[in-house]
Amino acid sequence: MRTYFIAGNWKMHKTRSEAAELAKALVSQLKDGKHKYLVAPSFTALETVGNIVAGTNIMLGAQNMAAEEQGAHTGEVSVLQLKDLGVQAVILGHSERRHIYKEDDELINKKVRLALKHGLEVILCVGELLEEREAGKAEAVCETQTVKGLEGVSAEDLKRVTIAYEPVWAIGTGKTATPEDADAIHAYIRKVIGKLYGEAAAKAMCIQYGGSVKPENAAQLMAKANIDGALVGGAALKAETFVPIAKFA
Ligand code: 13P
Repeated sequence: MRTYFIAGNWKMHKTRSEAAELAKALVSQLKDGKHKYLVAPSFTALETVGNIVAGTNIMLGAQNMAAEEQGAHTGEVSVLQLKDLGVQAVILGHSERRHIYKEDDELINKKVRLALKHGLEVILCVGELLEEREAGKAEAVCETQTVKGLEGVSAEDLKRVTIAYEPVWAIGTGKTATPEDADAIHAYIRKVIGKLYGEAAAKAMCIQYGGSVKPENAAQLMAKANIDGALVGGAALKAETFVPIAKFA
């Protein structure tokens, strides 16, 4: 049985005091929650939020990290610095990193391997652009991003990887993939994992859906056989919208 995993990606939002307020609300409202939870604030709020979620059922995640452990990398944040703050997981390969900041599969793979080497969990994001979907390439794009993103990752380390399918055209647009369309891609990604790591690993792999997840559509998405959770953006910024998703019935 896979555990549902609901994560909030706060992106470039919230000052420390705003982040603290939301984190406190989530701690109190999710303490009886039955699933696995994570919040990923900006780097600047990690310590503040980390102090609030420490010892609760909410994990602390970062939204990105450098591909190197340390050195002359102005403006970057290293895995060692994240671990020092109590970060337990990192989101890698988010479409905003891929498309706005031009991160490629090779760089993302380097980050994935470094994060796993240092004991972090990884949420590896994959997903196609609208023109790729319209050209019938959604599966191929997700397969390439999955295969390349996981290159050199051992079967043992794979247990700390979650894949987030985030169709780029559904992110922040209010357009959600239908549960059927999302499930079809999730099933395909699971097949890809099966080819790489075998049937048991494929069955165990947690695959989140991301892209305009809201309280109104969370339960329908989660009801699908291959959808094991959500990576939530906009609706993660308020307890009143994140909590109902996190406690979907
Ligand atoms: P939205 O939920 O705002 O569409 O964002 C999804 C996302 O990118 C989460 O990482």
